[in-house]
Amino acid sequence: MAEYPIFEHDVLVIGAGGAGLRAAIEASAAGVSVGLVCKSLLGKAHTVMAEGGMAAAIGNVDDRDNWKVHFTDTMRGGQYVNNWRMAELHAKEAPDRVRELEAWGAVFDRTKDGKILQRNFGGHKYPRLAHVGDRTGLEMIRTLQDHGIHQGIEVYMEVTVVSLLKDGDRVVGAFAYEREHGRFRIFRAKAVILATGGIGRAYKITSNSWEGTGDGHSLAYDSGAELIDMEFIQFHPTGMVYPPSVRGILVTEGVRGEGGILKNSEGKRFMFDDIPDLYKDQTADNPEEGWKYTQGDKNARRPPELLTRDHVARCIVREVKAGRGSPNGGVYLDIAWIKEKLSNAEEHIKKKLPSMYHQFKQLADLDITKEPMEVGPTTHYIMGGIRVDADTQASTVPGLFAAGECAAGINGANRLGGNSLSDLLVFGKRAGEFAAKFAKENDHGTIDDSQVSEKVKWSLQPFNNPGGENPFKIQEDLQEMMQDLVGIVRTEREMKQALEGLTKLRTRLANVSATGNIDFNPSWHTALDLHNLLNVSEAVTLAAIERKESRGGQFRDDFPLKVEEFGKVNFSVKKGDKGEMEIKSIPIPEMPAELKQIIEELG
Ligand code: FUM
Repeated sequence: MAEYPIFEHDVLVIGAGGAGLRAAIEASAAGVSVGLVCKSLLGKAHTVMAEGGMAAAIGNVDDRDNWKVHFTDTMRGGQYVNNWRMAELHAKEAPDRVRELEAWGAVFDRTKDGKILQRNFGGHKYPRLAHVGDRTGLEMIRTLQDHGIHQGIEVYMEVTVVSLLKDGDRVVGAFAYEREHGRFRIFRAKAVILATGGIGRAYKITSNSWEGTGDGHSLAYDSGAELIDMEFIQFHPTGMVYPPSVRGILVTEGVRGEGGILKNSEGKRFMFDDIPDLYKDQTADNPEEGWKYTQGDKNARRPPELLTRDHVARCIVREVKAGRGSPNGGVYLDIAWIKEKLSNAEEHIKKKLPSMYHQFKQLADLDITKEPMEVGPTTHYIMGGIRVDADTQASTVPGLFAAGECAAGINGANRLGGNSLSDLLVFGKRAGEFAAKFAKENDHGTIDDSQVSEKVKWSLQPFNNPGGENPFKIQEDLQEMMQDLVGIVRTEREMKQALEGLTKLRTRLANVSATGNIDFNPSWHTALDLHNLLNVSEAVTLAAIERKESRGGQFRDDFPLKVEEFGKVNFSVKKGDKGEMEIKSIPIPEMPAELKQIIEELG
């Protein structure tokens, strides 16, 4: 251990997106020393892909909104397998977290009377998304960085954590390498917070960039923590489909929030064809009512394009499979049509959706103020993750906390758009607070040398397999397989095939080869990431097989209906004594009477 530089902090935060930054700020404000590790450069986080806004019941645009409606919408969107306490805390605390972000300098769009402007998004009853054009995630990161920089947080950029280090049952640090020179580093900490984001890179079509390899999920799993809800993956309905090199890049739901409509190759607004019972009361059954809703008519109901993401994505797949798709395998998303309604449509679109305008202009040579976009589902987010205590964000392993996408519970079977940004703030803050408290009550623990030598040996193994498997090829094969066999529409037969495929990929990974030396070496980095990708892919597949029903982000062709019994449980995955993945169902605790009553009255 003496061979490697050791960095010591009270709290170590792994991941520097919205949740990690917010956690680091809170822990630091509590007076403990904080280290913040980013896999990439500070500021480059998947948080920026939440473009359309952060959901908080501030009620600036519609004063009927309040935490109870937001709570009810979140539970309904998650199809009632959410951790209700997390949904409650989130709905209650999000407005304060958004105002705090404003006080720290976030420049939100404004209502005419100068309040934070809020827009419509799928599954939210009222206009609820505080936003900055279509760059809200970016503004959040900028603000948190600016604020955090003055807190004395130590930032470690381009550092990848390979494993958590333990003293007995407790997590007391992390073993990592820095990307540029491949040198190992040891972090000692009294408490560790995982805020590493998602797993999108397990799939071929994704909005996630290269960092999204399920690191936090896998680090937690390897250290004995439980993961839950791993079967629930969010396929955002609108990713770019053309040109092929940009397939999967996000097209914000804000386009639909501003009046964008979905059409098939026959020019039909197919979303009117299938409105789920759960949302019939809230959904317009004609285009005129839908348009009025987007223009702020309080008596109108939402257009069907703003149904929840799981449903919209499946409707798009249905159209494509039925041969009514666009030339590149998507459907059409049209915002240009609003020129029929607004005289200043072009200016309006450029003002409200500046990033989308530039994205399509530059990447697809298409002017969205004049022509429809081609879009299709893209793997965007995982509802599943590390099982945490709702109030403290503590995982099931002492000393280990988690927040943001890598933690699970709040979203249940499907996340409402915009809930992620406010989730990062609410639970990032809580994780920081309680990790700091834990750090004040505990010492640094001990890391024995053998643990470190074992990690060193494991990490360097790809250099000892000359002529072995190509890590990029393994990743490509994994992505193809997960996309085809554990994607938007699933069956037991295909998922069992995927499990067999995963076993074969693990065998190939054991013989993976890194070429060159340890200085900036993407083949080595990918070889190490693959361990995480295989762990999360197996967890997703096992949980998806176990849930023999369709609910939210999980659609089973062989079990197309919701089953009452499955509405009472979450599935948890944990490493067994022999290193195998164990899955079990855990009953969802009874909801307190006052929350039940809210849902009965408003749901
Ligand atoms: O469509 C979007 O702007 C994404 C938002 C989110 O994932 O919350």
